[in-house]
Amino acid sequence: MDFLNTLIDLRPVVDLGVRTMGLYKFEGKMPKIHPGAYVSPRASLIGDIEIGDGTSVWEFAVVRADMNKIRIGKNTSIQDNCTVHCTFLNPTIIGDLVTAGHNSVIHACEIGNQVVVGIGAIVLTGVKVGDGSVIGAGAVVTENTQIPPNSLVLGIPGKVIKEVPPDMHESFKTDAELYVELGKRHKRESDRSKPTK
Ligand SMILES: CC(C)(COP(=O)(O)OP(=O)(O)OC[C@H]1O[C@@H](n2cnc3c(N)ncnc32)[C@H](O)[C@@H]1OP(=O)(O)O)[C@@H](O)C(=O)NCCC(=O)NCCS
Repeated sequence: MDFLNTLIDLRPVVDLGVRTMGLYKFEGKMPKIHPGAYVSPRASLIGDIEIGDGTSVWEFAVVRADMNKIRIGKNTSIQDNCTVHCTFLNPTIIGDLVTAGHNSVIHACEIGNQVVVGIGAIVLTGVKVGDGSVIGAGAVVTENTQIPPNSLVLGIPGKVIKEVPPDMHESFKTDAELYVELGKRHKRESDRSKPTK
């Protein structure tokens, strides 16, 4: 019987996961998603969140704004399994044309425009990452670090190695723009596969 009750309890969650976006109200605040953004039905977005035009949030990403607000700009991608959270003291603000790579963690910090947070990188509380910077795959940017614009940051703890060269900058910009297009294609696909009455 307990098992049956558990299944019944899970049913709305399963429905949400399969058919609609995983958007959840928290204490009266519902995520606000621009109509031009794409949010995977398998992502979870909770609470005081605003997401701009052209932004995409991918499979099993979690954006949880229960302690503070989270703002994500335009044409940004929050890729698969990425975690975005905040603290009571620090909101999380992510700019435009940002790439938050697969499995990255963005925690109670500010990420400027056209930044890349590499695959599996962790950006900790109180960090400010300047526009155009690249946080390399697997780097850990420790609490309250200020990263100047156009910095390439590698390692644990993350250190500024050099300025981002113009060709790397261009290549990551192209990747970010590809994600805007990819998001639109997925949005069309998920609109097509919505159940009809
Ligand atoms: C940092 C990065 C951009 C490469 O920069 P690069 O200047 O072209 O670096 P190179 O590949 O020429 O390597 C230069 C040195 O840095 C090291 N290096 C490269 N990436 C590194 C990383 N993520 N962490 C630590 N060291 C790294 C290389 O081993 C090399 O070391 P060496 O000089 O001792 O041989 C790339 O490795 C990276 O991390 N990209 C992130 C991609 C990503 O996650 N995109 C988002 C999702 S799609």
